[in-house]
Amino acid sequence: MNVLILGSGGREHAFALKLSESKKINQLFVAPGNAGTDKIAKNINISLADFNVIKSTVLENDIKMVVVGPEVPLVDGIHDFFLADSALKNIAVIGPKKDGALLEGSKDFSKQFMQKHGVPTARYQSFTKENLEEGYAFLETLEPPFVLKADGLAAGKGVLIINSLQEAKTELKEMVSNQKFGEASSTVVIEEFLKGIELSVFVLTDGKSYKILPSAKDYKRIGDGDTGLNTGGMGAISPVPFADEAFLDRVEELVVKPTIAGLQKDGIDYRGFIFIGLMNDNGNPSVVEYNVRMGDPETEVVLPRIASDLFDLLEGVANQTLHKKFFSVVDKTATTVMLVSGGYPEAYQKNKEIIGFDAVDESIVYHAGTALKDNKVVTSGGRVMAITSLANSMEEALEKSYRSINKIHFDGMNFRKDIGFDLM
Ligand code: AMP
Ligand code: GLY
Repeated sequence: MNVLILGSGGREHAFALKLSESKKINQLFVAPGNAGTDKIAKNINISLADFNVIKSTVLENDIKMVVVGPEVPLVDGIHDFFLADSALKNIAVIGPKKDGALLEGSKDFSKQFMQKHGVPTARYQSFTKENLEEGYAFLETLEPPFVLKADGLAAGKGVLIINSLQEAKTELKEMVSNQKFGEASSTVVIEEFLKGIELSVFVLTDGKSYKILPSAKDYKRIGDGDTGLNTGGMGAISPVPFADEAFLDRVEELVVKPTIAGLQKDGIDYRGFIFIGLMNDNGNPSVVEYNVRMGDPETEVVLPRIASDLFDLLEGVANQTLHKKFFSVVDKTATTVMLVSGGYPEAYQKNKEIIGFDAVDESIVYHAGTALKDNKVVTSGGRVMAITSLANSMEEALEKSYRSINKIHFDGMNFRKDIGFDLM
């Protein structure tokens, strides 16, 4: 079978590498892909915003399965577009339809969903410019810090955590009345601040049954010691040492089961990944957010730990036979460290030649923002490469990743030196 992966990051390179191991795949395509996916698949340089161009790509290349990496095409209804088109309706799309994608596309929807189905999450209320005064009053009932979230997609920037009540009120007004995050913040969710340690749990579901994939923890801030600006993610580890079996059992009972049952009760036929952002407060899980896709760089530590054939699992998702599929996890720790461009996460440099990565032999080099230019691999994004290692302990895996990084160079290269620091 021919398979198309949509996206261009480290996540999509990790999907491509894992799927390329499957004997059931004939040809693998990635759109638009990067210099890493170019080595193992055929890159197709198209925009993911144009569903008609995706359609012609799929038909021309006899593609029978589309794996959607990022959230935007899902929230924009790519799965629904396929189902509504007579030439595409039998092609498998891995990722939810619009109704399921709202779990990420609307924070207000996802909070309502959690409340309705008894999934533990922070107490909240939603506000628009019509009831701004009530928003101020709700803030007054909360203890600082105050958590304000733009309802819609805001490229990971729509969450504000603010210490002062006055500032929280000002920001609320900025969001709902002055469109601080555009249309996305015309509704704002205000919620209680959750204490604890964060981690992510990933679920693959065909809408009826599910597999719980390895858990992961990512490192979002640019600077060592979790300092500085937020990024897309600077590194990750899997498994998460503090997420022991007892905690993960609680997550399955209190979060995963009611989530899957809730989707069914609400008539949402969900086929794809659910990325559950969790807070662990003394063994009690609480959901911070749902995403309707895999995380990046979490994918770069989760997929290398899956021992079974990923394509086989995805076929199970597409035709609702996931319960029959074999699923096993590698009993090793995976760590990944992201190499980023000088300046990132603010304006950053591009087109810098990357050298030395071919000499890496004890880690997997996942390309993210890379491109081919005059037969050279150059930087083309803020997050450039994720260097993943597997070992019997987190310490050993990190040593491998950092030794591998010593071989790689590009002008302005930056990375966190302390991935896993809080877990040692
Ligand atoms: P989100 O986009 O919902 O994942 O929020 C971004 C980040 O803000 C999360 O990864 C958390 O670190 C933090 N966050 C969001 N909601 C809360 C909350 N209710 N309590 C504490 N931290 C939160
Ligand atoms: N690493 C966080 C995300 O993919 O949303």
